Amino acid sequence: MKRTQQPLPVEESLLATSSRFLRACRGLPVDHTPIWLMRQAGRYMPEYRAVRAQHSMLDVISTPELAAEVTLQPIDAFGFDAAIIFADILPSLIGMGLKLDFVTGKGPVIANALDSTYKIDLLATPPAEETMLAGTLQAIRLVAAELNPRDIPLIGFAGAPFTLASYAIEGGGSKNYSKVKALMYSEPAAWKRLMNKLVTVQADYLLKQVEAGASALQLFDSWAGSALGRDDYLRYVQPYNRALFRQLQRPQVPVINFSAGTAPYIEDVIACGGDVAGVDWRMPLDWYWQKIGYERPIQGNLDPILLLAPWRELAYRTGALLDSVAGRPGHIFNLGHGILPNTPVENVQRLVDFVRDRTAAPI
Ligand code: CP3
Repeated sequence: MKRTQQPLPVEESLLATSSRFLRACRGLPVDHTPIWLMRQAGRYMPEYRAVRAQHSMLDVISTPELAAEVTLQPIDAFGFDAAIIFADILPSLIGMGLKLDFVTGKGPVIANALDSTYKIDLLATPPAEETMLAGTLQAIRLVAAELNPRDIPLIGFAGAPFTLASYAIEGGGSKNYSKVKALMYSEPAAWKRLMNKLVTVQADYLLKQVEAGASALQLFDSWAGSALGRDDYLRYVQPYNRALFRQLQRPQVPVINFSAGTAPYIEDVIACGGDVAGVDWRMPLDWYWQKIGYERPIQGNLDPILLLAPWRELAYRTGALLDSVAGRPGHIFNLGHGILPNTPVENVQRLVDFVRDRTAAPI
């Protein structure tokens, strides 16, 4: 067949060989919708539980070979279109001087939580390679060496300043965020110093993840939406998230701006920056897409608890989600929050196959 030689648009030619995940992050057409799941390496997988039976959570994160092994488990088991480095958002706080532990049955605990402005001023801002995060940077090098030849991109990530501040001040998870909000309202200058320190540490860490081999980044602002109304978000969070996203533009890898509970002011969240909007499960995907503008790629947003439903319900709801955006480039399939530990493994495989089959472009 004779084809007229039309030069590809510059962006298209640059990305002609890149994976469907990276293409979708740029809003380019793909052969089928890419899929990966937040927290895809985790306790729902028997292979993961076997590693954790031998090693603590912090050991797995800080030992590059173990973190690399766990990162690859869901890729090899299910064939996801992207890997996410196995780590957590909280170890950044260790290098700043906080004592973090993951307690079974309780979750993360910080022994010396920030309960005075004095403690905020004592926090350090060391470069990532001088802290426990060096282990994650090395794990990224190992995984990238394994995945580059397979053309599977690796996502690096970090926590957004508010979400980290909430753990640092509350000393762990929280119901109503009363301590972090009380500090924010009563000591605005100290809040500013804390948030600026977190921006410094997280920007450095994310940029070094790209140097180590991450080909995309995701920022997790998991709790700002549950804690804050719009006015507080604009005043106490937006300036810092903006500053952080601005620093991430330089390496030209796509950056996913994920948040949860932020539907009432999603436009203000997306205005902070990032190339891709990562949205939660609380509103239909197309509702979010219309709000933030169809020109911006979007990631999401199946309710993770649907993976516990019978297959007919899971298939119906996944099909409806895909149909609602059918044909529009720039969709990355994901859950609307992290996968739950009690998810049946077979549902994950069926979901991956279903998304592929349903969205495959006709040849
Ligand atoms: O997505 C991945 O596969 C990468 C790994 C990853 C983990 N945590 C591993 C983990 C990622 C991206 C995170 C991010 C994270 N950690 C967030 C943001 C994402 C979100 O869900 O909102 C938050 C808020 C945390 C903090 C955190 N870490 C909590 C609240 C907990 C305990 C709750 C729980 O699920 O047990 C953790 C521990 C944690 N981080 C586990 C895993 C696999 C479980 C640890 C175990 O093996 O016991």
